[in-house]
Amino acid sequence: MPSPADEAARRRTFAIISHPDAGKTTLTEKFLLYGGALTSEAGAVKARSGRRSATSDWMALEQQRGISITSTVLQFPYRDCVVNLLDTPGHRDFSEDTYRVLAAADAAVMVLDAAKGIEPQTLKLFDVCRQREMPLLTFVNKWDRPGREPLELLDEIEQQIGLVVTPVTWPVGIAGDFRGVIDRRDGSFTRYTRVARGATEAPEEIVDPERAADEEGEAWAAAHDDITLLDEVGADLDLELFLGAQSTPAFFGSALTNFGVRKLLDAVVDLVPAPRARDDAEGKPRDLDAPFSGFVFKVQANMDPSHRDRIAFLRVCSGRFERGMVITHGPTGKPFATKYAHQVFGSERETLEEAYPGDVVGLVNATEVRVGDTLWLDEAVEYPAIPSFAPEHFSVARVRDTGKFKQFRKGISQLDEEGVVQVLRDADQGDSAPVLAAVGPMQFDVAVYRLENEFGAPVELSPTSYRIARRTDRPSAEALRGMRGVRVLERADGTLMALFESQYWLERLERDSPELVLERLVAEGGAG
Ligand code: G4P
Repeated sequence: MPSPADEAARRRTFAIISHPDAGKTTLTEKFLLYGGALTSEAGAVKARSGRRSATSDWMALEQQRGISITSTVLQFPYRDCVVNLLDTPGHRDFSEDTYRVLAAADAAVMVLDAAKGIEPQTLKLFDVCRQREMPLLTFVNKWDRPGREPLELLDEIEQQIGLVVTPVTWPVGIAGDFRGVIDRRDGSFTRYTRVARGATEAPEEIVDPERAADEEGEAWAAAHDDITLLDEVGADLDLELFLGAQSTPAFFGSALTNFGVRKLLDAVVDLVPAPRARDDAEGKPRDLDAPFSGFVFKVQANMDPSHRDRIAFLRVCSGRFERGMVITHGPTGKPFATKYAHQVFGSERETLEEAYPGDVVGLVNATEVRVGDTLWLDEAVEYPAIPSFAPEHFSVARVRDTGKFKQFRKGISQLDEEGVVQVLRDADQGDSAPVLAAVGPMQFDVAVYRLENEFGAPVELSPTSYRIARRTDRPSAEALRGMRGVRVLERADGTLMALFESQYWLERLERDSPELVLERLVAEGGAG
C-alpha cells in the first residue's frame, strides 16, 4: 500500500480566487471538463448549484442573489495526480470564508478579466495571499473578447501587487482576436479552434513557427516582438520565487472557449507544491507519514434540510484517513466517530472511504467542532489557529418578536460558532442586543436570512458608525469605557474588542494614551 507521503506527493490542493464575474465559476467548470470529471456538457457546476438551491432552504438566498455562499470542494484525477479544488465563495465583498479556505490551500489561481485587470477584490485577495506567502498563478481570462494590451496588464499587476510577473504563455492575437498561445518555456505555438459554447475541449494544434508566421501574419509578428522583449528583461518562470510568493507565473486564455485551459491545469499539476509536513502550533512539522491529523477550516450547519446537521470540513495534514476510525477532537479530548465522513460536491455528498494529506473530509455530526480545531489519531498534535480577520462592519441585532428570544439566542450562538459573523456583547446588555461584526456586509445578509428561516427568529439590524476594531485587555478596557467615540465589547471567547468610529480618533488616542493596549487584529490586509 502506498504511504501517506507517497499519496501526498500526488496531491495538488488549491483555490481559485477572483473578483466576481472574472470567470471563476466558468474556469472551475472547464477544469472539471479537462479533468474528465464532467461527462455531460460544461455548465454542470452552475446546474448543480441550481439543484442545490432547490433542495436547501437557506440556500435559496444563493439563488436569489446568483452567488455561491458555500464553498465546495471538488476532487478529480488529472494526469497522475489527484487535484483538490477548493472553491471560495463568490461574494461581491470579501468575507472571512475566503480567508479560511485559503488557509487550507497550498496555492491559488487568480483569475483576472482581460478588459478590467486588477479590480478591488483582486487587490485584497492578492494581499491575503502575500501575507500567507501563498504561491499564486495568474490567469488572464476572457481573451476572446476585446480587452487591454497584454504588456500593460502585466505592468499593472507588478505595480499594484508588487509581484514579479513571469508570463508562461503569451497570446497570439489581440484580445478579441484570440488565435492561440506561445509557450515561452519551449517556444511552441498552440493554436485553438472554437467549439460551440465551449461544451467540449477546444481542438488544439501545435503549429511550427514558419507556418505560424505565414498563417497568422501580423498577430504572430506582434506576439513575437513582445516575447523578444520579455526574454530581454528576463521575465522567466522561476520556481523558487514562485514558491516563495515573490513572482507569479501568468497564463492567457479564455475559460469560455477553453483556450489555454489545459496549459493552466497542467501548470497546476507541474507547479503547485504537493502538501508538505505542516508545522504544529509550536512550529514543529508533523511528518506526512505520522498518524492521521487535520484541521477544520470551515463549519457549515444545515446544508441540507433533510439532514439538519453540521458538517466540519477538515484538511488532512498527515497520515491516512479511513472512514470509521475513531479520532480525537483536540480541544475537548473527546473521541469523534467518523462513520459518516463525506466528500462534498456542492451539497451532494458521497461517502468517503479514505483520504490523504491535501484532501478534504466532510465530517458529519460535528456538533462541537469549530473552525481551527485539530483532530488527530494516536499522537496528539495541535495546528495553529486560523487568524480571524479584522471586522470592518458592525450592526446591532435585535429580535423583532420578543416571544422568539430563545430562538434568537440559539441562532446567534450557532452563527457565532460557525463563524458566519463575529458576535460581540456588551457586558451590561447581555444577549438582547449583540453587535454583529463582519469583514464584508454580505455576512450580515446570510446571518439575517438564517436567523429568520432556520431558527424562526426574524431580526432587525441597525447599522452602527463603528469602523475599526482593536483588541484590548481588561485594564485598558476599564479606561476606554469612560471615553467618547469608543465602545468596548466582548467576544464569546473572552477577547475584548474596542470599536472606533474613525482612524483619526484611534490614532489620537494611541498618541495621547500610549499605555493603552490596542492591538491590531491579525490579517487585516490592506484594509487596516
Ligand atoms: P465568477 O464565477 O468569477 O463570478 O464568473 P463566471 O464564471 O460566472 O463568469 C461571469 C461571466 O463571464 C459569465 O457570463 C461567463 O459566461 C463570462 N465568462 C467567463 N469566462 C469568459 C471568457 O473567457 N470569455 C467570455 N467572453 N466570457 C466569459 P454571464 O453572461 O454573466 O453568464 P452566462 O449566461 O454566460 O452563464
